[in-house]
Amino acid sequence: MFPPYLYLKISMPYETLLTSLKEGTFTITINRPDKMNALNKKVIEELSAAVDEVYQNNEIRCAIITGAGPKAFVAGADITEFSSLDLNGGIALACTNQEIVFNKIENCPKPVVAAVNGFALGGGCELAMACHFRLASENAKFGQPEVNLGLIPGYGGTQRLTQLVGKGKAMELMMTAHMIDANEAKQLGLVNHVTATESLLAQTENILEIIKTKGPRAVGKIIAAVNACFDKSKDGFEEEIKLFGECFGTDEMKEGVSAFLEKRKPQFK
Ligand code: COA
Repeated sequence: MFPPYLYLKISMPYETLLTSLKEGTFTITINRPDKMNALNKKVIEELSAAVDEVYQNNEIRCAIITGAGPKAFVAGADITEFSSLDLNGGIALACTNQEIVFNKIENCPKPVVAAVNGFALGGGCELAMACHFRLASENAKFGQPEVNLGLIPGYGGTQRLTQLVGKGKAMELMMTAHMIDANEAKQLGLVNHVTATESLLAQTENILEIIKTKGPRAVGKIIAAVNACFDKSKDGFEEEIKLFGECFGTDEMKEGVSAFLEKRKPQFK
């Protein structure tokens, strides 16, 4: 563990999230362990505000999203909030939540990584998939079990699962509601690394430490260019040309190239 002075509490008080900032890495822990960290309205609102912090706070270089307790990352949307919804309520729920949390995470110009520490079901799997990449502990389990409730994924799951694992496997996983373990998730490309449960956060932080030594604007442009591959309103190759060109106007690129030519490490701001 790190000594306490390296932790800096973020000002925003949250009821359902724990947050900490350590050397530029903002960790957001969804904190409803007695309800398997299910995403109720309050969690969604607070996640949206926490992601806004990632966008706006210059002290934050990158973020980790994880779940509190030993069992769950997030076991889905809070099912108790579903019974009162009708057609319009369902559309509004999916539309709002996709916009204020899931798409906002995906398009965040700073890396947001999921550290999946247990069940990642339904909206929990969708939350992990909205992050830029995922690490999982050995006890993690992934699934889209909405069909058990007569539902389909509504927070981007039909799209992002298909992007990550391919059409056939995504269809099977969603139609059967079959849960997969961390190793199968890795084989399918849903997670990048599987770690021992106790080292999940440290391993996630290690990868982010490497990313933090790179040019932050270039990292943001990688996120935008890769996302363009899945955005039907954009030509990804054209987007790459534009973003590549923009790099040439930055101090960051001047510093990176000068450092290489002067045989020293770059100092990115
Ligand atoms: N929404 C609301 N509450 C949930 C929840 C969800 N998605 N997932 C779990 N909970 C609650 C349970 O109702 C239970 O509450 P209680 O103690 O007041 O009864 C508590 O969390 C613990 O869950 P429990 O089912 O007792 O734990 P378990 O270890 O036996 O099973 C799961 C864990 C994750 C397999 C099981 O909770 C589950 O299947 N959850 C629903 C998953 C789902 O369908 N997600 C998609 C929603 S669209």
